Amino acid sequence: MDEDLKIVVDAVFVTTPLAAQTQLPRDLFRAIADLKRELNAVILAHYYQEPDIQDIADYIGDSLGLSQQAAQTSADVIVFAGVHFMAETAKILNPNKLVLLPDLAAGCSLADSCPPDAFAQFRADHPGHLVISYINCTADIKAMSDIICTSANAVKIVQQVAPDQPIIFAPDRNLGRYVMQQTGREMVLWQGSCIVHETFSEKKMVQLKIQHPEAEAIAHPECEPAVLRHASYIGSTTALLKYIQQSSSQSFIVATEPGIIHQMQKAAPDKKFIPAPPINNCACNECPYMRLNTLEKLYWCMKNRTPAITLPEATRLAALKPIQRMLEMSQ
Ligand code: 13P
Ligand code: SF4
Repeated sequence: MDEDLKIVVDAVFVTTPLAAQTQLPRDLFRAIADLKRELNAVILAHYYQEPDIQDIADYIGDSLGLSQQAAQTSADVIVFAGVHFMAETAKILNPNKLVLLPDLAAGCSLADSCPPDAFAQFRADHPGHLVISYINCTADIKAMSDIICTSANAVKIVQQVAPDQPIIFAPDRNLGRYVMQQTGREMVLWQGSCIVHETFSEKKMVQLKIQHPEAEAIAHPECEPAVLRHASYIGSTTALLKYIQQSSSQSFIVATEPGIIHQMQKAAPDKKFIPAPPINNCACNECPYMRLNTLEKLYWCMKNRTPAITLPEATRLAALKPIQRMLEMSQ
């Protein structure tokens, strides 16, 4: 055996527990389906999850759809194939259910960009402002907010706020700028951003448009304004998925995490989807947090009923109010 390869193989066997090597069922899809019945569980997955996870999920959606599903499920256990703030939102809505996240390290750069102490100071520096926070934030930030929004309903929610009411929008400055543009409202923006969406390059986007003049460019509002300028349609992941089905275009340049392309191909098999490239030709348009979840980890979290989401009750109650407001305002 090649010496380098031997070192890698040895390392895998040393770091993978023996139980995990021997006990993983041969048919993971079937084993997960069996556990789902046993636990009376529902599997909720975001579009940025790997295709196998999307294929086994009971519901696939954007952050708004997933929180609406979490609010109405009758399952005893919610298995959240997404990132921490999404599973945490499900737990805030369902304190008595077990909420599992396949990998507890699946965080979010946007949530990390808004630390609670600094945000508390920011809020104190802007008295009289209504705080609207993008759902991509921690429970502590939600607890300091008046209304939560997602990329699907941010414009609609801001439009419902009295015109003379000053607003703080956090943590995504790109979504905030996009909402300001759409509503004509000034808002004070927290300067956070998503490491995935900010890697899309305007130059590469223009190059792709030149190479594929027939393709329509579509983008998620978390992208930088320079990229959004080249998109003929901007929307949440669910909105983008709906749009490609309605549009008469046959090909699309897609500026968001490429996990969504799995559902786009399923919904419109004859259409072509070109993932927008990042600044370098790396795979950094894939969300490193979302991709921490795997089918194997999904199986183990259901089998072992851990890792589970927990949070202090006072924080949960304070974070629940702005989420409920969002759910009411997006009907
Ligand atoms: P939506 O789910 O609202 O489309 O947002 C995408 C995203 O970045 C989730 O983390
Ligand atoms: Fe967070 Fe961006 Fe990943 Fe969404 S894509 S989870 S905003 S880091």
